[in-house]
Amino acid sequence: MNKPAISVVGLGFVGLSLALVNAKKGFFTVAIDNNEEKIKKNSSGKTPFYEPLLDSYLHYSIKSKMIHFTRDLHEILNTDITFVTVGTPPSKQGEIDLSQLKSVTNDLAKILKEKKKRHLVVIKSTVVPETTKIISKRFKNTNVGILVNPEFLREGSGIHDLLKPHLIVIGEENKKDGDALERYYLDFYEKPPEILRTSTTTAELIKYANNAFLATKISFINSIANICQNIPDSDVNTIAHAIGKDTRIGPLFLKAGPGFGGSCLPKDILGLIKFSEKFKDANILFKAVRQVNQNQPYRILEIMKEMGVLQRGKRVSILGLAFKNDTDDIRESVSIKLVNVLLKKGLDIRVHDPMALGNFRVLFGDKITYCTKIEECLEKSECCILLTDWKQYKKLRRINFIKKMKDVNIIDARRVLDQSKFQELNFRAIGLGSKIYR
Ligand code: UDX
Repeated sequence: MNKPAISVVGLGFVGLSLALVNAKKGFFTVAIDNNEEKIKKNSSGKTPFYEPLLDSYLHYSIKSKMIHFTRDLHEILNTDITFVTVGTPPSKQGEIDLSQLKSVTNDLAKILKEKKKRHLVVIKSTVVPETTKIISKRFKNTNVGILVNPEFLREGSGIHDLLKPHLIVIGEENKKDGDALERYYLDFYEKPPEILRTSTTTAELIKYANNAFLATKISFINSIANICQNIPDSDVNTIAHAIGKDTRIGPLFLKAGPGFGGSCLPKDILGLIKFSEKFKDANILFKAVRQVNQNQPYRILEIMKEMGVLQRGKRVSILGLAFKNDTDDIRESVSIKLVNVLLKKGLDIRVHDPMALGNFRVLFGDKITYCTKIEECLEKSECCILLTDWKQYKKLRRINFIKKMKDVNIIDARRVLDQSKFQELNFRAIGLGSKIYR
C-alpha cells in the first residue's frame, strides 16, 4: 500500500515538528504557512526557533526531498491528509481566538470543493468543544472527512513525543474516516500506541482536560510548597517524592516552582474557565488553579524582601528566562512578570539564558543587561534567582556564587542546586518550598 501524502498547515512548534517527523518517516509532506519569512528560513535549512533534534530532522527532510515548504494552500491538492496546526491564541478576554482556524478551514473548503478522491482534514489545533462540529458544516458539499486529533507534545521534547506518544486520540464524525486516519497511524508506528476513537467533541475536551489536570498538579504542589515555605524543617521535594509513590497520584508534574508558563497551560486553563462559565459551578477548581499560578511569582519577591534585596539600585541576576529548559520560548514565562516588577522597583537587572536571550531582548531592549556567561551575570550581584531548570545551572557550586557575587543571596525557584552542597553556609540560599538551607 502506498503511503498517503501529508500536508501540514501552520508551521509553529507543533506543525513544523509534525511535518518533519512525517517526512523522516517516509511520508511525502507539504508544509504550508502564510509567513513568507518562515517558509524561506525553513526551505534553506534553518529552523525559526530552538527545539532539540529539529535541525537534524530539517536537514534530513530537505536532503531526502521528502518535504516541500510553500505558502500556497492549493498544494494540499497533491496530498491525502491535511493536518491543521494553526495557532489558537487567547483573545484579550481570554477566550481562544479561532480566527486563523476559521480562515484556513474556509479556504480549505473552497480548494477541496472539486476534489473527487476522499480527503481528510484533521484538526490538531486546540479548540473548545463543539468547534469542529461548526467547522464541519463548511465542508458539507465536498468529499472531505473532518477529524479531531489533539496533540500532547511538550516543547523541548516535541520530536520524542511525536515518535513515542502515550496515546492517539481520533475524534470522528463517521467510522470510515476514523478508520482511514487509524490506518495512517498504524503505518506510521512500528509499535502503535493505544488509539482511542471518540466523537469530535470528546476529543476536543480531552485536550483541555489533559492540560487542566497537569496545571492542577502543579498548582497543587506549589500550594504545598507555600506551606513549607512558612514552616522550618519541611521540604516540598520530599513530600512530592512521598506522595508520588502512591500510584493513584504518580510522581510526574509535582515539581514545585515559580508557576507554569508556556504557550499552552496558561492559555488552556483560561480558555476552559471562559468556556465553562455558562455551566453552573463548572470552573471553580480551574479558577483556583489559575489564581495559585498567578500568585506564585510573588513568593520570589517575598523572599527578596526578607533578604533585604528588593530595593532600588540593588543588583539582581536572573538565571533562566525560558518558561522551561530546552526551549527558547518565553511565552507566559514567569521571567517576564518578574523582570517587569523588578524594573518598576528600580533594580539593576542582569539576565542569562542559554537560548532565550534574543527573544527576551525583543521585549526589554536596553532596560536590562544580557549576559552570555553565567559568571558575567553574577558579577557584583546582591541576589541571584534561578528561574529555569537548565542543566548547566545544576552544575553550579558554592564557589561559583562566592567568587562573583557581592552578597550571596540565592533564590532557587526550581530547586536545581544540590542542596547538600549549600547547607551550613554563611550565606543565604533558599529553595522555593523549603526553609532548610538558609
Ligand atoms: C504542555 C503539555 O505538557 C503538553 O502535553 C501540551 O501538548 C502542551 O502544553 P509545554 O507547554 O511544552 O507542554 O510544557 P510542560 O512541560 O507541560 O511545562 C509547562 C510549565 O509547567 C513549565 O513552565 C514548567 O516549568 C512547569 N512545570 C512542569 C512545573 O512547574 N512543575 C512540573 O512538575 C512540571
